[in-house]
Amino acid sequence: MSLPRILVTRAIFPDVVERLRAHFEVEANPEDAIWTPAELAARLADKDGAFTTGSQRIDAALLASAPRLRIVANMAVGYNNFDLDAMNAAGVQGTNAPDVLTETTADFGFALLMATARRITESEHYLRAGRWTQWSYDMFAGADIHGSTLGIIGMGRIGQGIARRGAHGFGMQVLYHNRSRLTPELEAQCKATYRDKQDLLRSADHVVLVLPYTAASHHLIGAAELALMKPGATLVNIARGGIVDDAALAQALRARRIAAAGLDVFEGEPQVHPDLLALSNVVLTPHIASATEPTRRAMANLAADNLIAFFDGRGALTPINT
Ligand code: DGY
Repeated sequence: MSLPRILVTRAIFPDVVERLRAHFEVEANPEDAIWTPAELAARLADKDGAFTTGSQRIDAALLASAPRLRIVANMAVGYNNFDLDAMNAAGVQGTNAPDVLTETTADFGFALLMATARRITESEHYLRAGRWTQWSYDMFAGADIHGSTLGIIGMGRIGQGIARRGAHGFGMQVLYHNRSRLTPELEAQCKATYRDKQDLLRSADHVVLVLPYTAASHHLIGAAELALMKPGATLVNIARGGIVDDAALAQALRARRIAAAGLDVFEGEPQVHPDLLALSNVVLTPHIASATEPTRRAMANLAADNLIAFFDGRGALTPINT
């Protein structure tokens, strides 16, 4: 009996590709060049399954050219690269990679918050540029983390991880906004209090975005929302770029309407809005919140496990459309 054919659309850990080869006939992207939609469509034409990352859009046009395709396993917890309506219409199972990246991503959210509030990269650039000549009482004075008010928008697993770090590690008062409220038990564990979005933006010293990107969250943070924030506030985005209106954010940072921003994700990434690049009060990182070797490996293995379980007839392990 012939093995199911799988396309691995980006370079991943070689041993994970080898695991897949034990179960499937595998075509793996050898160069890690991002294939154009036309190249991807041509390669998917005879495939039964695909292993993707967030950089490939799976939409109706692509699915129309992949008549055998039954499953796409995303090596990411976010799946805004999937057109789920089109996948449902085509009967294609989608899976993501939740849980295995929660703590690593929450660590990074906190690291980015601290680097931003305490002006770590800005001060390092100053030092490396040879501009440090003497200690000064207000040099790179930033905002305190401990004892401040943390506002988290998006209180899924990663949001809860950030809340726990803030409340238990740094004595922060934690406010959160989410589509639905947490159970009283989870609110107690996270020491987090529900607020509506406007109230949270007005009250928080630091706002961290950890929500999924959907039509409803597009430009959730724009000029009007930034205007509500405290003048000394910090905004951190480890979710998806389109959630923040980058032009409005650059304007607010330039005008010191808010103090600083830390961004790991960008609208149209890997392009970054030139106005953001020109500012010193923003910390910019290239979508690395889940990037530790063990976590990226666990994400890759979970995507592979989804493909293996699905074709074994056990059903996908972490389905996102059923
Ligand atoms: C995720 O898992 O959604 C990350 O953004 C991928 O890197």
